Amino acid sequence: MPSNLLLLFLVCTAFMVHDVSARARKDKDRKKNSNSRNAENLCEIQDPNRTIDCFCDKVEYQNASDTTCWIFNELQQDDAVWDYFRTQTNLEKLKFNIRPDGNLRFVPTRALSRLKRLLELKIQYANIAELTPYAFANLSSLQEITMTRNQIIDLKPHSFSRLPSLTQITLDENRIAELRRDVFVGLPELKKLYIDRNNVSVLHDRAFSHLRSLEELELNTNQLPVVTRETFAGLKSLKILNLQENRLRMLGDYTFSETPNLVELSVDRNVIQYISERAFEGLSRLSRLTLSENRLTALGSDVLTGVPNIRFLDLRDNALRTLTFDTVNPIMENLRNVTSYFLVEGQSVIFRIAVLSVSVLT
Ligand SMILES: *[C@@H]1O[C@H](CO)[C@@H](O)[C@H](O)[C@H]1NC(C)=O
Ligand SMILES: *[C@@H]1O[C@H](CO)[C@@H](O)[C@H](O)[C@H]1NC(C)=O
Ligand SMILES: *[C@@H]1O[C@H](CO)[C@@H](O)[C@H](O)[C@H]1NC(C)=O
Ligand SMILES: *[C@@H]1O[C@H](CO)[C@@H](O)[C@H](O)[C@H]1NC(C)=O
Ligand SMILES: *[C@@H]1O[C@H](CO)[C@@H](O)[C@H](O)[C@H]1NC(C)=O
Repeated sequence: MPSNLLLLFLVCTAFMVHDVSARARKDKDRKKNSNSRNAENLCEIQDPNRTIDCFCDKVEYQNASDTTCWIFNELQQDDAVWDYFRTQTNLEKLKFNIRPDGNLRFVPTRALSRLKRLLELKIQYANIAELTPYAFANLSSLQEITMTRNQIIDLKPHSFSRLPSLTQITLDENRIAELRRDVFVGLPELKKLYIDRNNVSVLHDRAFSHLRSLEELELNTNQLPVVTRETFAGLKSLKILNLQENRLRMLGDYTFSETPNLVELSVDRNVIQYISERAFEGLSRLSRLTLSENRLTALGSDVLTGVPNIRFLDLRDNALRTLTFDTVNPIMENLRNVTSYFLVEGQSVIFRIAVLSVSVLT
């Protein structure tokens, strides 16, 4: 046999051996990735019977970072679609919109648990009666959860838990009736919590006690009949508290003394008839206090002694018959400042206030 032919034969054999081993390796890779490669790509779901469509910024496997999913039929916990999220595990923003013909009765924890890079989650127009414990899959990257208009009634203990990067929770326009203890736990970075426009009438003592970093709490437009010092226990960093449009009848002693860093307090549009002289005790940084549209007929002479830094005070639309110089005296110096506001209106506010107003203007 000519030697060059033998060489060619050897080369061919070597090449075939190489080819076979490469194919074997590829098969192995495919098996390893079968979870993601064989599944439908979340961003291009082909199933003609699908009940969800997701629109992604990039559609290649594992390339999407932002997606909006429209749900147009009832989705169950065991639906195969939740596995499709394996094909896009680099998502940073995920939004679910439920169309009028669709329905979603739970937070898709199973899908979320695959999204280790998720930063923002939004769900709206779902029908999620309760949030279960650890509903957000303990995602360490998650920063914002927005759950507006989802008919949520009940938050189970630990429903917002073990989310070390979470800074904001928005739960406005739901039907939350009760806020228990231990719902918000393990959220060391949480700064903003919005539970406005719900139906909260039972707010347990110490419900927010784990939220040491919280700076803003909105509880406006609910059914709260009473708040006490224990309601706000633990909120050491709180700066802004909104309690407008509830059913508060009075503010008792030391109601806000657990929140010494409060700067803005809004209690407008309640039915407050009485404010105790120590209600605002300890709020040395408070600069804005609004109490308009309540049923106050009088204010004690020491009510403002605990809040010497007030620069904006709104008492409009109450039934104040008397307001003495003594009451306003603690913040008198601030009121001389042109950037300060003291709003009292209507009713027969006594002569002394007229004198005060003049001195404020000069
Ligand atoms: C879609 O649904 C129909 C009716 O339920 C069924 O016959 C069909 O096999 C389904 N197709 C797929 C791809 O699942
Ligand atoms: C998709 O991701 C792969 C791997 O990260 C990358 O090589 C490719 O360029 C990406 N494609 C697009 C369209 O971004
Ligand atoms: C989240 O952590 C809790 C408590 O350790 C655990 O019971 C739960 O299974 C975790 N959930 C996920 C999706 O990892
Ligand atoms: C609000 O809560 C009350 C019970 O406290 C309940 O009777 C009412 O139906 C709730 N309203 C809504 C809109 O969920
Ligand atoms: C007036 O208020 C402004 C803003 O709060 C403050 O910077 C300034 O020092 C105040 N002036 C006086 C005289 O208190």
